[in-house]
Amino acid sequence: MERQAQPRVLLGVGGGIAAYKSCELVRRLRDAGCEVRVVMTRGGAAFVTPLSFQALSGQPVRVDLLDAEAESGMDHIALARWADRVVIAPATADLIARLAAGLADDLLTTLCLATEAPILLAPAMNRVMWEHPATQANHRLLEQRGVRMVGPESGGQACGETGAGRMAEPRSILHALLGSASGPLTGQRVLITAGPTQEPIDPVRFIGNRSSGRMGVALAAAARDAGAEVRLVHGPLGVPLPAGVQAVAADTAEAMHAAVLEHLEGVDLFIGAAAVADYRPRAPADQKLKKDAPGMTVELVRTPDILADVAARRPRPFVVGFAAETTRLRENARAKMERKGVDMIAANDVSAGRAIGRQENSLVVLWPGGERLFPEQPKGDLAHALIALIAARMAGDAEADTN
Ligand SMILES: Cc1cc2nc3c(=O)[nH]c(=O)nc-3n(C[C@H](O)[C@H](O)[C@H](O)COP(=O)(O)O)c2cc1C
Repeated sequence: MERQAQPRVLLGVGGGIAAYKSCELVRRLRDAGCEVRVVMTRGGAAFVTPLSFQALSGQPVRVDLLDAEAESGMDHIALARWADRVVIAPATADLIARLAAGLADDLLTTLCLATEAPILLAPAMNRVMWEHPATQANHRLLEQRGVRMVGPESGGQACGETGAGRMAEPRSILHALLGSASGPLTGQRVLITAGPTQEPIDPVRFIGNRSSGRMGVALAAAARDAGAEVRLVHGPLGVPLPAGVQAVAADTAEAMHAAVLEHLEGVDLFIGAAAVADYRPRAPADQKLKKDAPGMTVELVRTPDILADVAARRPRPFVVGFAAETTRLRENARAKMERKGVDMIAANDVSAGRAIGRQENSLVVLWPGGERLFPEQPKGDLAHALIALIAARMAGDAEADTN
């Protein structure tokens, strides 16, 4: 019999609050052409009903190991053999511990022992549970045995805490499971800058800004998910680097300029999302400045313009810039786009503490002859929407003009 192109995926759902997100994962897997079967732990079935997963997967959902009726149909060994890939989302602390201990006390853990298919876990739990040495040791042990992990991500959690432990988004799990063979940026090289720069005044002081790098990092993850080979040139970040991206640290505007030009060859898309200082102290002091004088003047000089220099290159990649504005957002951003000769500009309203350093943002994206407004949303979602728009513009998709 001919095998289908996409793998048969067995999705295990553990007893965590993120179980609802796995409904979307089933839809995405099926959209990608996968056949999906769902096995839930008893905890998982307490959060989302098996009926929801049954409707979404189009297949009966199994929970119990010792289920006489089901055993006569597809037993746990047959299910374990059926799967080309196993993904567990959410993987709770309890489930990770049971897997690490090699327990087979329910259908899902029994399956995991019985399968030869690769296993991918998407851990999801409270920050303190995730950081607990027991969980970390179990996680490491499973990785040593060849179990792959996607996430967890950092950010706001359902329990009200902020930190690492949030389940990876369904699109990231899909990417980790299936790879990037069909994304809109497949085969493209993407160079992104992110974060602030720090321009030294003396060995301990600098001129910086409030950027966390969250938007540029989210764009790098979104471009990776879209199939691109991504390099991220970044200043000091307030958020973790995304997996699967080549990172190059560059703390000052000059270092970032040099790193970008060094890595520009063969790049198809450049996105300048870093908050690069426009000025730097002309002559940083070699020694720490003393507070002897009643006041002081630091002379500033212009830093190189990374965006304009990339846009002036021939041949050059598709160039997307960011404009942070506090007034006349559209006018100033469109003027910047024309002055620098870039293909697209994403304008941020940074007045009154908006956008910079925050988890959510809205954008007005402009290009010659068109624009699109992206309303306030988490930066991860915004990044994926922006990457989809950029990919469509790069592909000359006329539909992108009209939405
Ligand atoms: C409201 C609620 C939310 C929970 N969320 C999580 C969670 O996100 N991650 C986790 O590891 N455990 C979570 N737990 C605890 C698990 O449900 C519990 O450890 C359970 O035994 C896990 O079952 P499993 O092994 O079937 O996944 C939560 C419990 C409750 C009551």
